[in-house]
Amino acid sequence: MDRERARRYGYATRADANPLRIARAEGAWLYTEEGQAILDASGGAIVSNVGHGRREVAEAYARELERISYALPPFATESRVRLVERLVSRWLPAGLVRVGFTSGGSESVDTALRVARLHHVAAGRPGRWKVIARELSYHGTTLATLAVGGHSKRRKGFEPWLAELPKAPACYCWRCPLGKTYPSCRTACADEVEAAILAAGPDTVAAVIAEPIGGSTAGALVPPDDYWPKLAEICRRHGVLLIADEVMTGFGRTGKKFAVDHFGVTPDLLIGGKGLTGGYAPMGAVFATEAVVAPIAARGDEIMFFTYSAHPASCAAADRVLQILEREALVPRAAAMGEKLGKRLSRLLDHPNVGDVRGRGLLWGVELVQDKTTREPFPAQAGLTNKVVAAGIAEGVFVYPGGVDPARDVITLGPPFTISEHEIELIGERLERALESALARLHER
Ligand SMILES: Cc1ncc(COP(=O)(O)O)c(C=O)c1O
Repeated sequence: MDRERARRYGYATRADANPLRIARAEGAWLYTEEGQAILDASGGAIVSNVGHGRREVAEAYARELERISYALPPFATESRVRLVERLVSRWLPAGLVRVGFTSGGSESVDTALRVARLHHVAAGRPGRWKVIARELSYHGTTLATLAVGGHSKRRKGFEPWLAELPKAPACYCWRCPLGKTYPSCRTACADEVEAAILAAGPDTVAAVIAEPIGGSTAGALVPPDDYWPKLAEICRRHGVLLIADEVMTGFGRTGKKFAVDHFGVTPDLLIGGKGLTGGYAPMGAVFATEAVVAPIAARGDEIMFFTYSAHPASCAAADRVLQILEREALVPRAAAMGEKLGKRLSRLLDHPNVGDVRGRGLLWGVELVQDKTTREPFPAQAGLTNKVVAAGIAEGVFVYPGGVDPARDVITLGPPFTISEHEIELIGERLERALESALARLHER
């Protein structure tokens, strides 16, 4: 594909757009049409968990397509039944036994919101409709998921369409929105979720939704161990459903099957995406307890599907990706290699502009600041994050841009679980060089 054709590929691209032209990918590496090898340190958008180029996944996908090109989502297919059985018996926290599929993360969150609402309506509590989320969160880009989410940049311009829903503060210890310090704070930010429920009126609240470990919005925010148990207890006490959005953290990314497993919490609804198929097929999922869906099923209410929900070939790809994760013990590997990546990234803390390095398993965030003492970010117009990402590509490493005020400049890392120690060292070295190069160009437009 020539440069001019590549430039015209997009939808609303800038006139000077010069997209990376990817020819192929293998393991943790992307290869451009010019033959440059780029280490995919973020697995795209924190998606590629088993690495690129797994022929057996492509073959499973193709075989299923040959058998059935498409089946209406309410129909049963062998590949779907097999996948549901694998998920329930080997992957999901005990109690999550109901499984629905969509074509991605946003659709899954959207579905979970509708399920939570329908649950209360069917159970005779039609007054419960509000969903409480936290600041600095991302739950997708449909209008409903933007409305619940707390990602100010992605909401911008759409506000007239977004339902006004209560927000609680983020759990962000490095810049505590309450100005407190753990553990003396006694996780006051979880109490703020309860305060939001009380202020909204508990009888009007359907659910609380949160990412157990934050994604790229503020860069892998890891809560203290007692935060999620407290959140679960608050929700239970007020009859509010707890939804864990694990689109980014699910399927081993944080070193356990699901991030809630770190905290011993089973939510009422859990959402998966990305890692379910490791990027090999567009798919997301909504998992629920029997108690959540029972009133809906008893009334015979329909939860409308998306046309490509539970596509047979996507089910076959997901089943094969999960088999690979099991066979190669990649979830414990994500935990072990994650520690090594964390150690390597922590060396960046010697740099005067690296404020914080945080994460769990193979999901890490690096927050960049102008002044480490005051934690003052760089000016927004400097566009530091994008400059680091561009410089990273020039150095041969792809890192994922993130950050929303006050966590303005954040780099998120999430390589495939197959990443080697040598590749981790390369990520560290190349990211260091990218940072220097971006800082040298700070004042360029
Ligand atoms: C926590 C979370 N929820 C929802 C989404 C949206 O998923 P998708 O982009 O597949 O629609 C994302 C995507 O990054 C995410 O990280």
